[in-house]
Amino acid sequence: MNEQILSFLSDSYPWKDRFLVLEEVSSTNDLLKTLAAQGAPHGTVRIADRQTGGRGRRGRSFHSPGGAGIYLSILLRPRCPAMELMHLTCAAAVAMCNAIERSVGLRPGIKWTNDLVFARKKLGGILTEMSLTAQGAVDYAIVGIGINCCQQEQDFPEALRSIATSLTLAAGAPVCRGRIAAAMMEALWEMDRMLLWEKAALLTQYRRDCITIGQAVSLVRGDALSHGTALDVNDQGALVVAYPDGRIEAVNSGEVSVRGMYGYV
Ligand code: BTN
Repeated sequence: MNEQILSFLSDSYPWKDRFLVLEEVSSTNDLLKTLAAQGAPHGTVRIADRQTGGRGRRGRSFHSPGGAGIYLSILLRPRCPAMELMHLTCAAAVAMCNAIERSVGLRPGIKWTNDLVFARKKLGGILTEMSLTAQGAVDYAIVGIGINCCQQEQDFPEALRSIATSLTLAAGAPVCRGRIAAAMMEALWEMDRMLLWEKAALLTQYRRDCITIGQAVSLVRGDALSHGTALDVNDQGALVVAYPDGRIEAVNSGEVSVRGMYGYV
């Protein structure tokens, strides 16, 4: 896929010397952590055909079979305090919507905070991890993205079949992983240019793509379950939720389910 991706990258893409496609890794995020510790530069990308230990948020695994998806991580070394990057996952989600729209011709939605969805099913996810210096500045950030591309319904494990989809299923036609991977890399480069200076524009687009806003949601934090309505996403990327008793809260963590999605009725 290396050559195919190269053929789809624009002449101006600046990081052609630092991407590599591998057949199998445990997790592209873990691989980049190792490379980051060895001094790998800003813009380093690793893509795997399959992952044996693909990880999602909240310690979950991310099903990563060979020949089916794109499992891609990028290493970024922005020079800023960690507080300036609270919106990184949101920015990456917008970048992935752009990449998919440009390469496949359909625009997914975003289920807050990091799920790419189509027709209420999960198309992919984003796992952002950061390492900080003792002074609270960003040493590096890794953005890992997994997108289901070529699966037919029967290719998903039974447990995922009713909640997962792929770009092939969404488009109703085969898709080209090399073209999509190149579009993802270009969109991440564009995101990097906008990340610190065009935060408002990124978040405006995030709000447009986010299907959670306006929906009934349930929140699980520890043992506590609460219900409310998602009102907005704030400038830090937190979900603003209104509860039936009139309280309004900006939610940063925990599991948020949207009514009518992934089996929540
Ligand atoms: C989620 O659904 O919670 C996020 C899934 C993120 C999966 C991607 S695949 C590439 C990178 N490597 C990993 O181990 N995880 C991310």
